[in-house]
Amino acid sequence: MVAVSQRLVIHQMASPQDDGSFAEDVRAGLTAAPKTLKPKYFYDALGSLLFEAICHLPEYYLTRAETEIFEQRAAEIVAQLPSPITVVELGSGSSVKTRLLIEAILARQSELCYQPIDISETILEQSAKQLLEDYPGLRITAHAADYTRGVGSIAREDGEKILALFLGSNIGNYTPDEARELLRQIRGALRPGDGLLLGADLKKSRGALEPAYDDALGVTAAFNLNLLSRINRELDADFDIRRFKHRAVFNDERSRVEMHLVSLTRQQVNIRGLEIVVEFQEGETIHTENSYKYDLEMLAALAERTGFKPAPGWLDSNARFSCNFWLAI
Ligand code: TRP
Repeated sequence: MVAVSQRLVIHQMASPQDDGSFAEDVRAGLTAAPKTLKPKYFYDALGSLLFEAICHLPEYYLTRAETEIFEQRAAEIVAQLPSPITVVELGSGSSVKTRLLIEAILARQSELCYQPIDISETILEQSAKQLLEDYPGLRITAHAADYTRGVGSIAREDGEKILALFLGSNIGNYTPDEARELLRQIRGALRPGDGLLLGADLKKSRGALEPAYDDALGVTAAFNLNLLSRINRELDADFDIRRFKHRAVFNDERSRVEMHLVSLTRQQVNIRGLEIVVEFQEGETIHTENSYKYDLEMLAALAERTGFKPAPGWLDSNARFSCNFWLAI
């Protein structure tokens, strides 16, 4: 077997810390009204681990539902494209669910090039090494980058089709306009006959949605609050984390769960690295993330507007989550 190190390439595109965009995005977000912070900054080393923990929570059904679909349908899903396939994944994280698809592909072709793109280099490296140890037929070319930069670097060999994966309801973290724009960019990196597998959470009752984003153990709260401790560390700020709390609310009209950090008191925060002092009123919030919930009609319309041919998706046994294969046309 070819050694793991010889089957792995990790390209580090300039990280947000190095290119100053974290600082500038925090400045823009915390001086705006209402205050916001971008969700991509959740995923520092600790944030990525906390997100992995979220995926194991009883309330967070999304990961289990998507995994169930792959356990039952992986062969059928990968059969939507002819061999040979190369797999690109946006926001690969630990790649645990992806293993099921990788195994189904390796049952049809002896070798596979997997191209994960993730903002967290530490998670990419760990998960890539484990995958390569487990699958001798696998090669990995990874990009530590945000999606828009990463999709520009997709590679294919002659005769290969690309199967792009965008799982875990990551699409839900974009506004409808942004989602359309991102899908068009993904489509732009593909050719007719390639495919996109899109995991999207479905709209359901408030009572089922809100606990998934506000669990009893407080792991999601820690994940959200970790953004403030990242600002403390990287931008020399003095957020008192205990004076903020996590809030998740379902906004029915906009079909999204909103995540906020609520200031428990009136307070000032000094961000020395930015040379600004930020004032908070009691109860004022920083909006950190949205998780849009789709229905099947919205998904089909999205495919049609972004250069894909939609097809009926697969649902988990509780019909909570959808997995959609779209052909690039
Ligand atoms: N893509 C995940 C989702 O929307 C991200 C996520 C899960 C998340 N839990 C969160 C983001 C809590 C912020 C806070 O389900």
